[in-house]
Amino acid sequence: MTAAQTLAGQRILVTGGAGTIGSAIVDQLAAAGAAEIVVLDNLVRGRRANLAEAASALGGKLRLVEGDINDAALVHELTARKDVVFHLAALRITQCAEQPRLALESLVDGTFTVLEAAAAAGVKKVVASSSASVYGLAETFPTDERHHPYNNDTFYGAAKTFNEGMLRSFHAMYGLDYVALRYFNVYGPRMDVHGLYTEVLIRWMERIARGEAPLIFGDGAQTMDFVHVHDIARANLLAARSPVTDKVYNIATATETSLAELASSLLAAMESADSADSALVPEHGPERAVNGVTRRLADISAAARDLGWKPEITLGDGLRGLVSWWRENREP
Ligand SMILES: NC(=O)c1ccc[n+]([C@@H]2O[C@H](COP(=O)([O-])OP(=O)(O)OC[C@H]3O[C@@H](n4cnc5c(N)ncnc54)[C@H](O)[C@@H]3O)[C@@H](O)[C@H]2O)c1
Repeated sequence: MTAAQTLAGQRILVTGGAGTIGSAIVDQLAAAGAAEIVVLDNLVRGRRANLAEAASALGGKLRLVEGDINDAALVHELTARKDVVFHLAALRITQCAEQPRLALESLVDGTFTVLEAAAAAGVKKVVASSSASVYGLAETFPTDERHHPYNNDTFYGAAKTFNEGMLRSFHAMYGLDYVALRYFNVYGPRMDVHGLYTEVLIRWMERIARGEAPLIFGDGAQTMDFVHVHDIARANLLAARSPVTDKVYNIATATETSLAELASSLLAAMESADSADSALVPEHGPERAVNGVTRRLADISAAARDLGWKPEITLGDGLRGLVSWWRENREP
């Protein structure tokens, strides 16, 4: 246990802070009164625009440094005199499968450098982004944090599992305090709408806007546990403030939603925003052999008990917000 701390007046480093989740954390840190926020992001996926709101709220207290977590000298320089490090920089699971060596350098070596610098600088807490991918297809549902990681067969999940091990070892070797958060299926504003690795919700919104039905690969029975980016950012801030250390927590909603239900909910969210009825019904395409995980459902009682965290945004509200954000931000 460490002492509970306020984030007001704290100096903070956010790696990957120009991305979807990182920028939501920066917004909440601004509202919490952080004294200084440095974002380190190489902008392979993150965008300056994601930090525009925080920049106008924070002025000179926010600095975006365009650089890589593998640049050890830069990481050490930016970590010195920081109180808290939020470590989010990583590649998508799909890119890790296509470029495993790059993934090794980014997720594993890069994380080592971030932890080495945090230990050397004596930061009070590292809050690290892990993933439900560490479970692979779980054997028990709802899945709690004690579930083993041996069903994972993705490089991304392997790297996240190793990162959790690295965090534990840095805690044991150097007393570095940390909390790792295993996010389940993340969605919300600032999801990537431009890149190669956009997600199913973005592709479906594009189809629906063209008057085409959302396309589900397979029977749509596969389930996920969706959690909104704002709730994830709240979990990060609570983890930074809380006295707990050397722990991992599931961050999800403990609600199972099938792909077919997700497609119907998205259609409803887009129709309610249009106030028009649509006759679209989801279509099915051939199964794709990319994702062997057919079910996700988290036990989130540990985060509720230790961090005082509970999700606040329902899937319906979250999807309506995502649709409005997407309509305002998509390229014509
Ligand atoms: N989105 C999800 O569904 C999900 C689920 C579980 C875990 N996570 C984890 O949460 C974290 C944040 O994810 P996100 O959804 O915001 O993704 P994101 O791609 O929007 O953000 C990641 C950021 O890291 C930056 N980055 C990547 N490699 C870097 C490097 N070598 N040096 C510096 N910056 C680098 C990218 O430019 C991007 O801004 C990641 O660690 C991710 O693995 C995400």
